[in-house]
Amino acid sequence: MKAIEITSYGAPEVLRAVERPDPVAGVGELLIRVAASGVNRPDVLQRKGHYPVPPGASDLPGLEVAGEIVSGDAAALAEAGFKMGDRVCALIAGGGYAELCVAPVAQCLPVPKGWSDTEAASLPETFFTVWSNVFERGHLQKGETLLIQGGSSGIGVTAIQIAKALGATVIVTAGSDDKCEACRKLGADHAINYRTSDFVEEAKKLTGGKGVDVVLDMVAGDYVAREIECMAEDGRLVIIAVQGGVKADFNAGLVLRKRLVITGSTLRPRPVAFKGAIAKALREKVWPLLESGAVKPVIHSTFAAGGEPSGAAQAHALMESNQHIGKIVLTW
Ligand SMILES: NC(=O)c1ccc[n+]([C@@H]2O[C@H](COP(=O)([O-])OP(=O)(O)OC[C@H]3O[C@@H](n4cnc5c(N)ncnc54)[C@H](OP(=O)(O)O)[C@@H]3O)[C@@H](O)[C@H]2O)c1
Repeated sequence: MKAIEITSYGAPEVLRAVERPDPVAGVGELLIRVAASGVNRPDVLQRKGHYPVPPGASDLPGLEVAGEIVSGDAAALAEAGFKMGDRVCALIAGGGYAELCVAPVAQCLPVPKGWSDTEAASLPETFFTVWSNVFERGHLQKGETLLIQGGSSGIGVTAIQIAKALGATVIVTAGSDDKCEACRKLGADHAINYRTSDFVEEAKKLTGGKGVDVVLDMVAGDYVAREIECMAEDGRLVIIAVQGGVKADFNAGLVLRKRLVITGSTLRPRPVAFKGAIAKALREKVWPLLESGAVKPVIHSTFAAGGEPSGAAQAHALMESNQHIGKIVLTW
């Protein structure tokens, strides 16, 4: 099969098309002929050598794919209600930048009705992450307010849409007025350009002084102290990335006084059973929103993965330019 390899750690050009042996599905797994592979920020970190591959995962980058089932563990397929030839999208721990990809059956979901493979490939990584962090760890409830840092990111556009569809008020931050406008169009109630306004003051004002109930934070660093300042009593801060640094200096007294919960998680190294449970919840609670059109694909660009230079290099360069709004997808 053709695949995109990280030939050495470095700039996007280290991503090169290579030939690799076809992978083989084992117990509880299926093999997908990949039509499209989603690109995520963690792939960029992996390419730079900052995100080690979990034990047992493919060294190839790529955490999500969509395509057709071409072989697999018959019993596991039958139990999950899949058959050969079905179109699925899958969350994987690596190996997504390839024409063929093995995935645990438990981490596969049907391509939603009316969605193309390219659109479906943009789903798993951000939907599993947002569901697990905003709803399971952060316990966001209908009627509560969610603050999303980085509203125009792949994660952000997913969080905006699910949170709105499930009845929350959504405030986002983004780094330009255009990005703020795009977030509002996706349903965000308020968008704050963090380069020109202070999100702490804005969030307090927008909530009538009460503060936000849940924060989805992909920045950390000095954002933590500021988030704690604009959180409501019994608020939950969920950290999913540390783009602003791993160290935080904050007022612990506020955590006690407001009874805050500070939590976080990283999805990739979690076991198949954990990810399978998220897949079940998504299928039940979120897939109907995708099929009804309440939640829409937000794809900024697609690139042909093969070729020399690989479209994967262009995709990574675009992601690092931070010009994109939503997702970037590779097609095969
Ligand atoms: N923990 C997990 O399991 C998990 C899983 C998937 C992804 N992640 C993390 O989630 C983040 C988003 O991933 P992605 O694939 O959606 O990447 P992405 O589309 O490239 O998004 C990165 C975003 O970070 C925003 N950002 C950077 N500095 C900011 C700041 N100071 N304030 C507000 N926003 C800021 C950028 O927005 P502006 O251009 O507007 O600044 C950009 O939209 C990444 O850091 C990724 O590593 C974590």
